Amino acid sequence: MSMDIDEKQNEKETIVSGPVPSMGVYEAISCRRIIRDFQDKVVPPDVLKRIIDAGLKAPTHDHLRNWEFVILHEEQDKKNALQFIKMGTAPQLEILKKTLVDGTAQQKMYAIAMPRQYTMLFNASHIILPFFKSTPGMMHPTSASSFNPISSIWCVIENIFLAATAEGLGCSMRIPVGEEGINVAKTVGAPEEYFLPCYIGLGYPAEDCPAVEQVECNTEQKIHFGKW
Ligand SMILES: Cc1cc2nc3c(=O)[nH]c(=O)nc-3n(C[C@H](O)[C@H](O)[C@H](O)COP(=O)(O)O)c2cc1C
Repeated sequence: MSMDIDEKQNEKETIVSGPVPSMGVYEAISCRRIIRDFQDKVVPPDVLKRIIDAGLKAPTHDHLRNWEFVILHEEQDKKNALQFIKMGTAPQLEILKKTLVDGTAQQKMYAIAMPRQYTMLFNASHIILPFFKSTPGMMHPTSASSFNPISSIWCVIENIFLAATAEGLGCSMRIPVGEEGINVAKTVGAPEEYFLPCYIGLGYPAEDCPAVEQVECNTEQKIHFGKW
């Protein structure tokens, strides 16, 4: 990481250390949810470091781990990075209007998620921008391995989600639309070959977070022993 997380914290805020959590991996996996409403409470720097550290332990193609994280906490830094969201959200709001008729789980999720695309990042204690170094082949894929850089960063992102959950925190996540990701990358000074797969908001979940209905999977029906 090129920036020192400790130095970036707002000095006026009380910073406390977080205890190392004891939540087991299966519990973290089942408790993890995308969180879109946060308490006004700052994540301590040592907790933030542990979460990024968990991200960096993800599996990686070619043993590269060529990932960098821009962390935003100051209000103005957040505003600068999030300025492109409103444009990107307009087409999604149109989709929402058209699809909110029959109330499937996906539509209910959209109804909760779409109006929160900006606030679920801005109101988070920190925004994590996870960058990965792209390869020329990624934009002209010839096989699944062409996607290795993006596949690897998603392993990082999931590790971050699970570590945050184990810390009693929650994460929001937004995929940049159109030119949004490139604009954010330029705004925070990322080198040209680095891509932003998503924004992550990190913070303490609000107590009245709306429960988002899940599409349940039956594990036994998903497993195909020997042959599909
Ligand atoms: C590839 C991918 C893209 C997603 N894009 C968005 C997004 O742009 N905005 C958002 O609010 N949530 C986004 N989500 C979160 C999903 O809405 C969420 O994971 C899904 O509703 C299941 O809920 P859960 O993660 O709480 O289990 C995305 C998730 C994935 C894996």
